[in-house]
Amino acid sequence: MRKIAVINQKGGSGKTTTVVNIGYYLAKADRKVLLIDLDPQSHTTIHLGFDPPEIKKSLYDLLVNQTPLNEVLKQTNYKNLDLIPSRIELASAEIELVNEVGREIILKKILEKNRVRYDYVIMDCPPSLGLLTLNALTTAKEIFIPIQAEFFALEGLTKLFQTIKIVKERLNSDLEITGIIITMYDKRKNICRDVEKKVEEYFKDKVFKTRIRENVRLAEAPSYGKAIGDFDPGSYGAEDYENLVKEILKQENKK
Ligand SMILES: Nc1ncnc2c1ncn2[C@@H]1O[C@H](COP(=O)(O)OP(=O)(O)OP(=O)(O)O)[C@@H](O)[C@H]1O
Ligand SMILES: [Mg+2]
Repeated sequence: MRKIAVINQKGGSGKTTTVVNIGYYLAKADRKVLLIDLDPQSHTTIHLGFDPPEIKKSLYDLLVNQTPLNEVLKQTNYKNLDLIPSRIELASAEIELVNEVGREIILKKILEKNRVRYDYVIMDCPPSLGLLTLNALTTAKEIFIPIQAEFFALEGLTKLFQTIKIVKERLNSDLEITGIIITMYDKRKNICRDVEKKVEEYFKDKVFKTRIRENVRLAEAPSYGKAIGDFDPGSYGAEDYENLVKEILKQENKK
């Protein structure tokens, strides 16, 4: 079972788009996949066609009210792809759990207790380094960081690394960055190539070869509640995420 946190506290770096679309193509490649929406904005939940107000039990209930996992887990419209959905009240979970002992490892313990078995558990983190993200980092073994190819892309990465280092030292020694994904890439723009060069220099072979190009179809798909491979399989976005998933599947042989 691969457990991957998709994280970057910088907003709009392509986390949710990546989680939904790699989830879709991994499921299509016959892997059993669980996506966990840790963001109160519920974008992954909406992107998969759910309307959060209509969801009765969400990640919030699982973390705060000890609601059983089977009441929270949803099947999506796609075979092999399940979801633990989010609703807006997740925004108050960080405060409500502040006095809870072991609050950084609630999610990890729930998955262990329920003997959750998937080929992939992929977590969409909110754009912050708070308690919800910490829960993802203690549950995960791997970290994927999507980096948007633009001027401020590298700002904030130092803070992210510090957080990862502390979690690794104190809570989860298994944790490793295993993939950097360059998103919203346009090779005609100098700034994109500059960021690409810096990212490659720093992360070396951890950077996936596939570039996720800027593609308006990727931005349109969420409002239709569909993954790109379902919404517009002929688009660049579909092509890029399908290629990225080929690389992710290749990593399986190295584990
Ligand atoms: N390759 C792309 N080309 C064009 N638009 C994209 C691409 N990837 C993502 N987008 C759009 O950019 C916006 C931000 O992407 P996304 O929601 O995936 O980022 P995020 O990191 O999850 O954001 P947040 O930090 O708010 O959770 C969205 O409107 C999304 O549809
Ligand atoms: Mg998001």
